[in-house]
Amino acid sequence: MAPASAHAFRNDKMMKPIKVGLLGIGTVGAGTFEVLRRNQEEIRRRAGRGIEIVMVADLNVERARELTHGQCEVVADANLVVDHPDIDIVIELIGGYGIAKTLVMKAIANGKHVVTANKALLALHGNELFKAAQDRGVMIAFEAAVAGGIPIIKALREGLTANRIQWIAGIINGTTNFILSEMRDKGIDFDTALKDAQRLGYAEADPTFDIEGIDAAHKATIMAAIAFGIPVQFERAYVEGITQLQATDLRYAEQLGYRIKLLGITRRTPKGIELRVHPTLIPSSRLIANVEGAMNAVLVQGDAVGATLYYGKGAGAEPTASAVIADLVDITRLATADPEHRVPHLAFQPDAMIDTPILPMSEVTTGYYLRMHVADKLGVLADVTRILADSTISIDAMLQKEPAEGEQQTDIIMLTHQTQEKNVDAAIARIEALPTVVGKVTRIRLEELS
Ligand code: NDP
Ligand code: HSE
Repeated sequence: MAPASAHAFRNDKMMKPIKVGLLGIGTVGAGTFEVLRRNQEEIRRRAGRGIEIVMVADLNVERARELTHGQCEVVADANLVVDHPDIDIVIELIGGYGIAKTLVMKAIANGKHVVTANKALLALHGNELFKAAQDRGVMIAFEAAVAGGIPIIKALREGLTANRIQWIAGIINGTTNFILSEMRDKGIDFDTALKDAQRLGYAEADPTFDIEGIDAAHKATIMAAIAFGIPVQFERAYVEGITQLQATDLRYAEQLGYRIKLLGITRRTPKGIELRVHPTLIPSSRLIANVEGAMNAVLVQGDAVGATLYYGKGAGAEPTASAVIADLVDITRLATADPEHRVPHLAFQPDAMIDTPILPMSEVTTGYYLRMHVADKLGVLADVTRILADSTISIDAMLQKEPAEGEQQTDIIMLTHQTQEKNVDAAIARIEALPTVVGKVTRIRLEELS
């Protein structure tokens, strides 16, 4: 039984709501304010204490006042929130790594816990921020930073803590998955689908972060750190988005029994850690290949548990708010715990992190889809297969299209077994030099995920 003084302390805390300051009431901020208001009684019963947003900072004060219905103080200057002595937790939902970083560092220095959905900030400056928080004895919680409403951070950091994690592969950007699904299912063009994703609140302030794979790489970087106990190292991630993808390849992939998804992949290998984002062929029969629209899914392979799959809404106001509020509740429960007994920010104790190298892309091993446009002449196929054999690349499947009527050229598509990227680079250079091959070879990576 706890001593009487501890009871008194807890009772006092039970009665006093924890006070929260919100920085940025845009898509996610507005969702967070609304869900916290709507479910406040249920949340209080879970947290053991009320959680109240008492101050909101936003550049658009007028809009912020409308969204908060006069229920809290609204200011234009976010510094007033992070400096306010009554605020216990600061939620940063501004985004980017300019003012957001300054404000988070200031909040930490002022002894406030921080909740953020800002994966860009954590992927680039996480090591510095977590160190500052550790030194100051405060928490940074970031469930919403990866896969929106899916509690993947909690799963990796706590639920799978018994496992040596082997690999993670995820559809972790809602905007690009939405674009690919719309293009495939409705025949909508890329630009229209992107505009729809922006209108629905899925896209980043700068949508090139989504379509060029940068946002997914931010999230993969964070997951790699938590899965393998390594520092966040966004600068070493290989990043390729969906802007170069052609509708032809989506169709050929389907004909071969695959679907193309933008995957974030991180894998432990004997030589180091793979950390990469790129369009990927996945067998159509896999559950993850059937994740459509703005939905996200993360497949995690642990040595004890085997494969586990997490699925849900990866973007949008309320799904993301769900993760932000889960962090608020976690912090509320742990705020009075001794800092040494809290869950470490990156799952592993700070002094137990290992600097395992991130492998360059040339050292990564995977399967490949290769499409080449060739002259319809005898011997072309033999030349290509000889080059692949010389590079020790074995062919798994092949598709040769009949030339269209009146055409002298056609497409050959090959799927390879697993091989090192540097072998494929060398083979592609030789194939492109053949006089019978027209233009560039299209290369898309392929993962069986078995
Ligand atoms: P929004 O752009 O919708 O919201 C950002 C808000 O912050 C805006 O209201 C903006 O005001 C305000 N703001 C900008 N600068 C300041 C400042 N200096 N002081 C105070 N307020 C400021 O972004 P989202 O809500 O979409 O995203 C917020 C964060 O959540 C980002 O880090 C994003 O990556 C992340 N995230 C977003 C998801 C989503 O589905 N949207 C999902 C998961 C994470 P103004 O509009 O006037 O510029
Ligand atoms: N722009 C991001 C996406 C928001 O589309 O997934 C969620 O992180």
